[in-house]
Amino acid sequence: MAVPSLFFLSLASLYSIASAQNTTDNLQYVDPLIGSANGGNVFPGATLPYGMAKAVADVDSGSNQGGFTTEDGNVTGFSTMHDSGTGGSPSLGNFALFPYASCPGDDLNRCVFPKTTRKTRYQESSVKSTPGYFGIILASGVAADMTAAQHTSLFRFKFPSTTNGTSPLLLLDLTDLADSRQDNATISVSEETGRMTGSAVFKPSFGSGFWTGFFCADFKGADIRDNGIFVNSRPSTDVKNLKISRGINQGPLPGGGFIRFKSNPADGILARIAVSLISSEQACKSAESEISTFDFDATHEAAESAWREKLAPITISTKSVSASLITNFYSGIYRTMVNPQNYTGENPKWQSSEPYFDSFYCLWDSFRSQLPFLTILDPAGLTQMIRSLIDTYEHEGWLPDCRMTLCKGYTQGGSNADVVLVDGYIKGLKDGIDWEKGYKAVVQDAEVEPFDWSNEGRGGLDSWKSLGYIPTQDFDYKGFGTMTRSVSRTLEYAYNDFCISHMAKGLGGKDADVEKYTERSSNWRNLYYKDQKSLLFNGQDTGFNGFFQGKFLNGTWNTQDPLWCSTIDPDPGRVCSLQNSGQETFESSLWEYGFYVPGDQAGLISLYGGPEGFVKRLDYLHDSNITYIGNEPSFLTVFQYHYAGRPALSALRSHFYIPRFFSPTHAGLPGNDDSGAMGSFVAMSMMGLFPNPGQNVYLITPPFFESVSIQSPITGKTAVIRNVNFDPSYQAIYIQSATLDGEPYAKNWIDHSFFTEGKELVLTLGKNESSWGTRVEDLPPSLSPYVGFGNGTANGTAVERLRRDTRERGMGSLETDEVGSAFGAGLA
Ligand SMILES: *[C@@H]1O[C@H](CO)[C@@H](O)[C@H](O)[C@H]1NC(C)=O
Ligand SMILES: *[C@@H]1O[C@H](CO)[C@@H](O)[C@H](O)[C@H]1NC(C)=O
Ligand SMILES: *[C@@H]1O[C@H](CO)[C@@H](O)[C@H](O)[C@H]1NC(C)=O
Ligand SMILES: *[C@@H]1O[C@H](CO)[C@@H](O)[C@H](O)[C@H]1NC(C)=O
Ligand SMILES: *[C@@H]1O[C@H](CO)[C@@H](O)[C@H](O)[C@H]1NC(C)=O
Ligand SMILES: *[C@@H]1O[C@H](CO)[C@@H](O)[C@H](O)[C@H]1NC(C)=O
Ligand SMILES: *[C@@H]1O[C@H](CO)[C@@H](O)[C@H](O)[C@H]1NC(C)=O
Ligand SMILES: *[C@@H]1O[C@H](CO)[C@@H](O)[C@H](O)[C@H]1NC(C)=O
Ligand SMILES: *[C@@H]1O[C@H](CO)[C@@H](O)[C@H](O)[C@H]1NC(C)=O
Ligand SMILES: *[C@@H]1O[C@H](CO)[C@@H](O)[C@H](O)[C@H]1NC(C)=O
Repeated sequence: MAVPSLFFLSLASLYSIASAQNTTDNLQYVDPLIGSANGGNVFPGATLPYGMAKAVADVDSGSNQGGFTTEDGNVTGFSTMHDSGTGGSPSLGNFALFPYASCPGDDLNRCVFPKTTRKTRYQESSVKSTPGYFGIILASGVAADMTAAQHTSLFRFKFPSTTNGTSPLLLLDLTDLADSRQDNATISVSEETGRMTGSAVFKPSFGSGFWTGFFCADFKGADIRDNGIFVNSRPSTDVKNLKISRGINQGPLPGGGFIRFKSNPADGILARIAVSLISSEQACKSAESEISTFDFDATHEAAESAWREKLAPITISTKSVSASLITNFYSGIYRTMVNPQNYTGENPKWQSSEPYFDSFYCLWDSFRSQLPFLTILDPAGLTQMIRSLIDTYEHEGWLPDCRMTLCKGYTQGGSNADVVLVDGYIKGLKDGIDWEKGYKAVVQDAEVEPFDWSNEGRGGLDSWKSLGYIPTQDFDYKGFGTMTRSVSRTLEYAYNDFCISHMAKGLGGKDADVEKYTERSSNWRNLYYKDQKSLLFNGQDTGFNGFFQGKFLNGTWNTQDPLWCSTIDPDPGRVCSLQNSGQETFESSLWEYGFYVPGDQAGLISLYGGPEGFVKRLDYLHDSNITYIGNEPSFLTVFQYHYAGRPALSALRSHFYIPRFFSPTHAGLPGNDDSGAMGSFVAMSMMGLFPNPGQNVYLITPPFFESVSIQSPITGKTAVIRNVNFDPSYQAIYIQSATLDGEPYAKNWIDHSFFTEGKELVLTLGKNESSWGTRVEDLPPSLSPYVGFGNGTANGTAVERLRRDTRERGMGSLETDEVGSAFGAGLA
């Protein structure tokens, strides 16, 4: 007996090795529930990559921005449209369904129709989410699961068998999560087929204007007993058409349709609901073509295949690393493709053959690493997004900064679509992108002030051009927006212009523009106040001198404490966002914005006293909790050590934050995922190549895996990063030497041709910082020259010290399986 069983065993293990090598299913490592609690606000339900239909249970918790959260709340319904990871008020959640196994006493009037009263607990252990699938069991015993196609959700409701013989009821509510519905929503219910169609007008969750959503719902599984509409708490089977007012109270009046079935089939009742921004007819067409036979398993499998294909280009060596890190990585990747949403063919605002993407929510978050990551993983998708951004400029007059359901979202800082376009341009995206038109669009951002710069473009352009900075309390009669953030806007505008100068250079024949935008890209210098000190809130001097500071029109400096709006700012009343009373920095401190000069790190390093002064300041930023990794401006600061010739410290920092602040748990994200921005930070940090967006630069750190392979979806070539002396305990995270395609490689950065040409980067690791990547000629490009650098500034002593401090302060070890959300909770 022993021989044959051994024989089978070895065959089986041989097979699994072979299949692990060529058919690795990265889908198994995706957990869509990561970030479903503690303010991650992710959409944890069923969707296709960039899908418009996003099916999930909605809850009434205070953090239901993505529909469902695992932390509390009662289920109010099951809706089809959602965003992911957003802050502020909840987004979408349109056209909820709600199931009843039967109405008490078989009396329609005793079923509870309004959202506020029908909501119900659910069985916590019943929640199940995988790519393309979400399932949950309500306290009533009704089991709901769901899957999705591009514009269509398919819900399956199974009712407890004790209710066999009675009449399940499904209602469809003309509602959304934020109760933003306006007047005159409509619904029509077909007596014969049970089909429900209609529409309603809603408000965007972080933007201006209104949008109209349409739906088409069909049901299958049992014969129709009766149907009709409801208003407030009362249904009627006689009335089949409803037009409803918003009403004068806070929430819109409850209203919608319902359908009752003659029996309770064991396989459940299926509800197929498609959405459209064009018409109900178009919604019905999508439903019929996308899920023609109500085949739940086939729809689910198609969604899985779509995700499997999207995740396939990146494979890792799983050797010796914990499953939790792998899940962290692939789930982060997954979240980068939930939003933006592909609304091609659903844009009623203009006729065009260009693709149309929406839910750029917001570019201020996604320009930093999410969209750059898609340049690697899904360049065809990103190409369509860029074409859509340019087409939006063509038809609405401006590139968006934030956009949701056909509406203009609010601008947070600069015109960062400029960075998105330039990043794609310098990384060689083509395929139908009209780059000359794209160039016109970014130049318009730089030159023409829009009337509402809260919604697009930039404000204060007269001052920008004449003074070289955005003044605090600017005089601006041409365009209007919140008159705050003068420092962060100056820094972002300067970087936007830096990016434009590079596109001008690339396109050629634009020498004057190259000169103009290069010059303006140094405007950040105009707000550097060299005598600004920074005291801690206990009065102790941080010891650093020289910070950016606001400046009035007359040239007098404004004073904002450099630590205001930082994570350690003790004043809970300080407002740091888009409020009128906000500060001169957006959502962060002068301390952190003090590093936001992505185009001229060498120039900044000089101001901060050379590489040592810069590194000391960057250490202080991180070690004193001034920065918070749960908000996007922190991302680049993790890797900016590269510019000071200390790539080892970037590696150490990235392990400091991952997984401590990013763990594969429900509460595992340190802040709003922001449409996958956090996911992309995890993915690119763990890959070991972090972008400086808008530049053809990836900063090299060792991947968290022994190797990472990325097949370029454009060229089919495979780029490989391999760690020699890989240490899964992450003590040896310092590059000692490297080769690129077999040749010694000392630069601490690499460009995009690494991916498209399928190069091989081999990193030899050790436990001490080395001189690799530390010489001036090894450093990434910068506008100003690097000065004050010696022959490499490698300082193993400093790394040891940082390591020791990290442990002593109880920030934990660098173990792989650590769960660190506790830190996040208090700081969000
Ligand atoms: C895996 O690769 C081997 C060798 O290239 C090939 O023979 C085999 O068919 C592949 N298996 C699958 C499941 O693709
Ligand atoms: C959910 O419902 C339960 C019981 O019905 C109630 O105790 C709880 O407060 C509700 N939670 C919320 C967030 O409304
Ligand atoms: C439930 O009803 C169906 C017919 O609709 C019947 O086939 C089935 O046996 C019933 N099940 C129970 C448990 O009564
Ligand atoms: C809503 O319908 C009412 C009644 O037909 C009509 O008077 C009103 O103008 C409509 N409002 C809008 C915004 O269409
Ligand atoms: C977006 O949708 C259009 C229309 O369905 C489709 O042709 C295109 O391939 C989609 N793009 C992506 C990136 O999925
Ligand atoms: C410049 O303007 C600011 C703000 O209005 C004012 O406080 C300051 O006194 C002015 N400085 C001079 C020199 O006039
Ligand atoms: C930073 O925050 C962490 C977590 O709250 C805390 O343990 C640590 O002591 C803080 N460090 C400093 C220097 O305040
Ligand atoms: C690392 O450096 C320290 C001193 O800076 C030295 O004592 C130690 O031996 C070095 N470790 C290795 C592995 O080279
Ligand atoms: C670099 O090292 C060489 C040889 O040790 C020395 O001659 C040169 O002056 C050094 N350069 C700097 C900038 O320190
Ligand atoms: C190395 O770092 C230590 C601690 O930060 C510092 O005191 C020392 O001057 C540095 N040495 C060099 C050569 O940079």
